Amino acid sequence: MSGKPLYIRNAAQLVTLKGPTGPRTRGEMEQLSIIQGGSVWVEAGRIRFVGTDEEVRRRLRSRIEEADEIDATGRLVTPGLVDPHTHLVFAGSREGEFEMRLKGATYMEIMKAGGGIHATTTATRQASREQIYEESQCRLDQFLRHGVTTLEAKSGYGLSLEQELKQLEVARDLNQDHPVEVVSTFMGAHAVPAAYRDRSDDFVDQVIREMIPEVARRKLAEFNDVFCERGVFTPDQSRRILEAGKEHGLAPKIHADEIEPYGGAELAAEVGAVSADHLLKASAEGIQAMAKKGVVAVLLPGTAFFLMAEMANGRNMVDAGVPVALSTDCNPGSSPTVSLPLIMNLACLHMGMTPAEVLTAATINAAYAINRGDELGSIEEGKQADLVLFDVPNYMGLQYHYGSNHAAVVVKGGRVVY
Ligand code: NIG
Ligand code: FE
Repeated sequence: MSGKPLYIRNAAQLVTLKGPTGPRTRGEMEQLSIIQGGSVWVEAGRIRFVGTDEEVRRRLRSRIEEADEIDATGRLVTPGLVDPHTHLVFAGSREGEFEMRLKGATYMEIMKAGGGIHATTTATRQASREQIYEESQCRLDQFLRHGVTTLEAKSGYGLSLEQELKQLEVARDLNQDHPVEVVSTFMGAHAVPAAYRDRSDDFVDQVIREMIPEVARRKLAEFNDVFCERGVFTPDQSRRILEAGKEHGLAPKIHADEIEPYGGAELAAEVGAVSADHLLKASAEGIQAMAKKGVVAVLLPGTAFFLMAEMANGRNMVDAGVPVALSTDCNPGSSPTVSLPLIMNLACLHMGMTPAEVLTAATINAAYAINRGDELGSIEEGKQADLVLFDVPNYMGLQYHYGSNHAAVVVKGGRVVY
C-alpha cells in the first residue's frame, strides 16, 4: 500500500451522509449532507479532512504535491456501498428451478420437493473448499465493481457442523485475501435437512448444542441468523436458536415474514435483533415493535422481483420510524444478483422510497445493520476511507440511469482497489 495521502478532488457532488449517530430514521434518511465541489483527504486508510475543494487546498496547501490525486470533476462520490445480507459462499446455480418457477411452481414448493436450499446444500457439500472459494471470489469481484466495499455473508448451505465450518472458513479467507470486507453470519438454521424432516426439534438441538458453541469458539461469525417461516423454523424454534446465539456472543438476525405473516418482526424486537430481513408480510404490530426497539429492517427488493412477489412496504416502514437498509440477498435461488445499485433502483420504483432514502439505506443504515455504523457508511473524519466515484453528476442519476454500472473508481481503506 502506498504510504502517500490520497486526495480525491472536486466531486460534482460529494455525498457525505454526515449526521446523527445511530441508524437513521424518518426525515434523517433524506439528509445526505452534500458538498458541491467536495474533496476528501485520506491518510493511513482513514478519512482525515472533508470539505469543499477550496477548503481542502487551503488547509493542506503545503502537502498537496505529496498526495496521489484522483480527479472527481463531474462525478458523484459516495461512501462505499455496504451490502448487509448475502449468501455469498456457495457452489453451483439453479437455472432449472428458475424455469420451473416461470412455469408456475412456487419457491416453497420447490424447496419442499427437495430442491431450493437443499439443492445448493448438496452442491456446496460436494464441492471442494477451493471450488467454493473461487466461485465466491468471482462474485465478490463483481460486488466490488458495483461499488460495494463491505458485505455480510451467511453460511447455511452446509447444515452440519463440519460443512457449516467449511463455508465460514471460506468467508474468513476471502475477508483476509480480498479488498471487500466480509462480515460473517452463522446460519445453520437455514433449512431443516432432509434427514431431520419429521424431527426438526432434533436439528434445532444440534444447532444449539453443537454448532453455535463451536462457531463462536472459533470466532468464525459475529451474527446468528434463522429462516423463521412456516415449514422451516417456527417462531419458538427461532427464539431458542437466537437466544442460544446471544449466550455465545453472536448477535441475532432473522429472515422474517417473507412468505406469510409469522410473527418474525415481533420476534426480532423481542430478542433485540440487530436486523430483521425480508419483511414482505410483516404485521403492523411487528413493524411498530421494530421501530420501538430500533431494529433495522433490511429490505430485499431483488428477491421479491425475482420471486415475482409483492415488495415489502419500505415507505410504510420509513414512515413508522423503522431504520431501513437495503441489500441484494445475493443467493442462487431467490436473488442471483451482485448489483446493489439495481436493488436501489427497485426500491425507488417499487417500495415508495426516495433516491435520498435509498442511498442512506445502502450506506450508513446498512453499516448499522452489521454493527459497523461507527466505522463505515459515511464520509466523516476518522472513519475508514471507503469511497466510490460514480460516473454520474448527482446521486439521483445513480438510480435514474438504471441497469448500467456507474462505478468508476472504488477506494477501500484508503487504497484504490478498482
Ligand atoms: O434469503 N429465504 C431464505 N434464504 C434465502 C434464499 C436461499 C436460497 O434459496 O438458496 C433468501 O431468500
Ligand atoms: Fe437471505
